[in-house]
Amino acid sequence: MFIRDLIKSNYGRKNSYINNQTEFKRLDSCTHGGLYSTDNNQEIRIDFSSNINPLGISRKVLSTISQNIRNVSITYPDPKCRELRRRISKYLDYNILPECITVGNGATELIHQFVRSFPYRAFIPIPTFCEYELAVRRMGLKIDFVDPLENFQIDNDLMIEKLKKRNNNILFLCNPNNPTGRLTPVEIIKKIIKVAKDKSTLVLIDESFIEFVKNYERNSMISYVMEYDNLIILRSMTKSFGLAGLRLGYLVANPNLITKINLNQISWNVNGVAQIAGIEALNDQDHLVRAKKIIEKEKIRILKAVREKMKGLVAYNSDANFLLIKLKNKDSTWYKEELLKNHGILVRDCSSFRGMSNEFIRIAVKTRSENELLLTALENMEENINN
Ligand SMILES: Cc1ncc(COP(=O)(O)O)c(C=O)c1O
Repeated sequence: MFIRDLIKSNYGRKNSYINNQTEFKRLDSCTHGGLYSTDNNQEIRIDFSSNINPLGISRKVLSTISQNIRNVSITYPDPKCRELRRRISKYLDYNILPECITVGNGATELIHQFVRSFPYRAFIPIPTFCEYELAVRRMGLKIDFVDPLENFQIDNDLMIEKLKKRNNNILFLCNPNNPTGRLTPVEIIKKIIKVAKDKSTLVLIDESFIEFVKNYERNSMISYVMEYDNLIILRSMTKSFGLAGLRLGYLVANPNLITKINLNQISWNVNGVAQIAGIEALNDQDHLVRAKKIIEKEKIRILKAVREKMKGLVAYNSDANFLLIKLKNKDSTWYKEELLKNHGILVRDCSSFRGMSNEFIRIAVKTRSENELLLTALENMEENINN
């Protein structure tokens, strides 16, 4: 029996989302960058489509992993990640107790766990990270997308208007936003949280990229989790500490919300290697500081080069470790394929982001030598397009 028929016969509820072909397509449409996003991955020399720490994993973390790999591999990990939560609590340094924290197999797992714990209708400002939509759709729930202003800035006034109209919803806010890299200021977020609170709506702020922002502590909402009991903060350690393959992320919120979210946690969801790697990564924060210095310098250099030398490209300012680029003359899917084929460089084709057309690509800010290769490749593409 074909799998869809099987699902239908087992869960054949009337109006069930899983019976609906359009829904099947939508559940399939959340795509990501990375080495495995393309079938031609032998051609990839440098991956600019994943926005992780340009220095990768820290040497200290690698050494801790290799010293402990035997014991950690043969022992069941702590299902409550106690030591890691204590270390995160110290790292956050805002009197955030370990009971305000839950850890996941990457931030992605926690997005899905959050929606399973609070299966409410959702607000999602677009364009943004597609896992929010996927998590909500998988639960068969409705979504109210909030259209952006010009240049994909989040329309906060529209969002507030929409929030006022309904009770008991969830709102996702990615800060800084993927794929634009733009921050929403704390004062605006506070206003949004207050309006949401009046309507019993929960607000999940995804701060997966915030540690790459200059003076990020001022822009993070973590210190407000005890003040607002409808606020949940999501952080990823895969990007800031270069642990994408190990998978690690955490949620921070009022302990009552965390207790409810933990009811949906799969036992031993975070493996032992990821737990020790996370602890050591937080012990070696210099690694992130060094990466941020590189990103700060390189971002300016890439923006300048693109703006001065590449007339067919428009590079937008970004608060994060990646840049959104508009292609004036070519389609983003074609552009991505050509860059890969001719230069071995993989960028993120943004046409799969809801609300974006096929005119945009996104590039990670990496080390100087890697960025040099990217700029040379972009210049070469420009020359070929114009000739
Ligand atoms: C905004 C945002 N949040 C969360 C994630 C997922 O992070 P993780 O690797 O920790 O699952 C991503 C991955 O690209 C992302 O862009």
